[in-house]
Amino acid sequence: MTHITSHISEAAEWLNRGEVVAIPTETVYGLAANALNEKAVAKIFEAKNRPFFDPLIVHVSSIDDARKYVEDIPEPLLQLLNKFSPGALTILLKKKKAIPDIVTSGLDTVGIRIPSHPKALALLSQLSFPLCAPSANPFGYVSPTNAQHVYDQLNGKIPCILDGGNCSVGVESTIVGLQEGHVTVFRFGGISLEQIEAEIGAVNILLHQNSNPKAPGMLDSHYAPRKPLFVGNIPNLFSKHSSEKNGLISFSEPYSDLPFTERKILSPTNDLREAAANLFAALRYFDNTDVTSILVEKFPEIGLGRAINDRLNRAATRS
Ligand code: TXA
Ligand code: MG
Repeated sequence: MTHITSHISEAAEWLNRGEVVAIPTETVYGLAANALNEKAVAKIFEAKNRPFFDPLIVHVSSIDDARKYVEDIPEPLLQLLNKFSPGALTILLKKKKAIPDIVTSGLDTVGIRIPSHPKALALLSQLSFPLCAPSANPFGYVSPTNAQHVYDQLNGKIPCILDGGNCSVGVESTIVGLQEGHVTVFRFGGISLEQIEAEIGAVNILLHQNSNPKAPGMLDSHYAPRKPLFVGNIPNLFSKHSSEKNGLISFSEPYSDLPFTERKILSPTNDLREAAANLFAALRYFDNTDVTSILVEKFPEIGLGRAINDRLNRAATRS
């Protein structure tokens, strides 16, 4: 049985004993363990059924804390850390020996993130070690954005879930590193491309490099619900799938003229941040209904719309 607690001290006790605890962050819930303890880290891969070639992000409480685990932080990346941390940003940096190979899948870089969720930060500052944590979903499934999501899928596999409410950002962190000396975005996430470029100017973008271990493990079918999911223009999708019991996920429009079985409107006020925060719960929702296919509107390619479209494209059924 997995215990859901709201007490940081209880989560800290399990972590101190080398156990795995699901923790809240502002992006999604993470499956955390002592990043310096290889046996504890191995339990994360086991609980998630995650392949060992997919490296984990290391969470620390401050930039000073990060310096214990990485070589020097190059200027443009330090500027991003100063601007957007704590927050939904992960920076890839040359690791020091203290970070075991199991965390980075043998890479010489480590992803470093300072989460802004108050419970995550409070927990990190109570511990004498950093926490490595992937999203707390079984490998390949949608990331969890509340404690119940974690419980529904990992009950019995981990001792404890620290409940920190609903995640305010709702999509994973933006991953940035250097590629041949150029600042490169490897995953769109909670800090938008516009925010990053406003700070340091134009950057390179390198997504979906699933065969390239240097780029974040963007394995093709990821974030996927169990029901078939199609992304695009809603009236067109509906006419193709009109014989199905269709569920709708849209930005703000209800498409009232089309006979959807159920609808999830992510932001009636047309706010991309609100839409991102509601996205993963909506994807999960339809798995527990009698809807037979999920039709999702393509989002505008601006701000958090990029991260939303990225997750949708990887959740989409290949035809
Ligand atoms: O918002 C987030 O980033 C959440 C919360 C829990 O912090 N974590 C998260 O972790 O999304 P995960 O493991 O689900 O996704 C992290 C991605 C993976 O695709 C992994 O391949 C990539 O980051 N990654 C981690 N370390 C890396 C490294 N050294 N080089 C390249 N990619 C790395
Ligand atoms: Mg993940």
